[in-house]
Amino acid sequence: MSERESRTQTPGQYSQATNEPGLRIVPSTMDDRRAIYDVLLNSGVFGQSDAEVVDGMFVEAFTGPSDDNYRFLSCWEGSRLVGFACYGSESMTQGTWDLFWICVSGQLRRRGAGRALLNDVQQRAAQERVRLIVIYTSSTEKYTAARRLYESLGFERVAVVPDYYNNGDDLFIYTKSMTRKE
Ligand SMILES: CC(C)(COP(=O)(O)OP(=O)(O)OC[C@H]1O[C@@H](n2cnc3c(N)ncnc32)[C@H](O)[C@@H]1OP(=O)(O)O)[C@@H](O)C(=O)NCCC(=O)NCCS
Repeated sequence: MSERESRTQTPGQYSQATNEPGLRIVPSTMDDRRAIYDVLLNSGVFGQSDAEVVDGMFVEAFTGPSDDNYRFLSCWEGSRLVGFACYGSESMTQGTWDLFWICVSGQLRRRGAGRALLNDVQQRAAQERVRLIVIYTSSTEKYTAARRLYESLGFERVAVVPDYYNNGDDLFIYTKSMTRKE
């Protein structure tokens, strides 16, 4: 690992046990690149152009010049990478993180991987004194599972931008305070 790679990976280096039996969440490594690409292609939601965007972010996470790069977490079941999450600081904010992507392989859903990944992001946020996590998503049917996941973990829909992605495809903004006591 180069000095730069080691520096850019430092913020999330620890491994996290999950409450979901058999699942393990760890910071992604460069070796996960192809498997993450395949998770996106197997998502039934994202296409090749999306996978290319994520792949670009993934490479940047390991080679970019900034400590504020995107960070990736991989969810493993044994030797199989079943899903990933990508998050990072929102530019021009103090202590706000954005969950950019979360995805679990199509055949491996409803077994707790999405929840384990998002819980792990929240635990890391708490450890790094992040104030707020924000998530941007679509109002359309194919993102129903994602919206339910966010809501099930206490994220609140705080804004809607009608027709943002396309006509009839609104932007939903979810947030969760990391400092407010429940
Ligand atoms: C959203 C996603 C990551 C959830 O992953 P998952 O591993 O299936 O989710 P989990 O098994 O951890 O589910 C956690 C909770 O989310 C909700 N949920 C998940 N899938 C759901 C679905 N299809 N319908 C309704 N609720 C759902 C439920 O509350 C669920 O808890 P429960 O199983 O105890 O009822 C997965 O569906 C996915 O990859 N979707 C496509 C990609 C995507 O839309 N990403 C978000 C935008 S980047």
